[in-house]
Amino acid sequence: MSGKLHIGINDVLKAKSRIRQFVHATPVFTSSTFDQRYGRRFYFKAENLQKTGSFKARGALNAVTALLESNRSIPGVVTHSSGNHGQALAWAAQIRGLKCAVVAPNTSPTVKLDAIRGYGADVVICEPTPISRQETCDRVANDKGYHFVPPYDDLDVIAGQGTIAVEFLEQIPQLDAILVPTSGGGMVAGIAVAAKSIKPDIRVFIVEPNGKDVERSLVAGERLWPNPPRVLDTIADGIRLQQLGHVTWPIIQEVVDKQVFTVNNEQIIDGMKFAFERMKLVVEAASGAGVAAAMSERMHNMDASICHVGVILCGGNTDIEHLPWYT
Ligand SMILES: Cc1ncc(COP(=O)(O)O)c(C=O)c1O
Repeated sequence: MSGKLHIGINDVLKAKSRIRQFVHATPVFTSSTFDQRYGRRFYFKAENLQKTGSFKARGALNAVTALLESNRSIPGVVTHSSGNHGQALAWAAQIRGLKCAVVAPNTSPTVKLDAIRGYGADVVICEPTPISRQETCDRVANDKGYHFVPPYDDLDVIAGQGTIAVEFLEQIPQLDAILVPTSGGGMVAGIAVAAKSIKPDIRVFIVEPNGKDVERSLVAGERLWPNPPRVLDTIADGIRLQQLGHVTWPIIQEVVDKQVFTVNNEQIIDGMKFAFERMKLVVEAASGAGVAAAMSERMHNMDASICHVGVILCGGNTDIEHLPWYT
């Protein structure tokens, strides 16, 4: 890894060649109803149909493969996540023949823990606090000699997520902008590095839930969010973290647009419902946030030169017994 941004297009292309045999080139959906209603052409990249049900498979598999390339004797990998990264790492480790442990809080839904175990990983339960998660993870890493693979603050994970943009621009070269639901920022960092390198004028926007308030930090050029990390009160459990990462922040500051799309629960539900009803796609709330951004006032007021807008439908791992409009 080299250069000012620490990752470049070559890292993303390398990631693409490492993972292409195992991940789906996900389809792009369009809706003439949506386009007519919102006055631009929108393209929905269906990472909800990706292996393990989210884009996270890309970054996890690239990171595991890169690790093995640098050290063949690693016995296994570990992470902390009850969500999409946990499933993705378990899947990636299984493909590469590595052991895997996923540390998850004792509040995690059984259905998610079963999915992680289904990919052959061990689940290690901890208390539902950031400190307990990290301590448990460190203990497993020390006891078993496993390598920690973070959910976003890792250059190989970021490069893997960047493969979404390479693929998307191959499918829809005319894209003028891409909307990216964001938590720690691995996906938006990877997408922005790759997209801007292929098409320097493209705009890459963060989509966030209410309360994250990233725009203030981007405009000020410094992290204005509180410490320690806070979890936001949003139905979009995939993008609940308030803080961008230490590795992702400098990349994002350099290549991601300073205008941010902020959406609330009601808008997220409208976005999910549109995907269900009109595109027949099962998406989780984080994807609904992307659709909601496309429907928003801020998008309505965007420059008319932005004609072709990509939206990342980042995941589809939703609990159908607890759809947010029934709770
Ligand atoms: C479905 C979904 N979308 C978006 C994100 C945000 O990814 P990042 O942390 O790389 O910003 C996540 C992260 O877990 C996710 O699970």
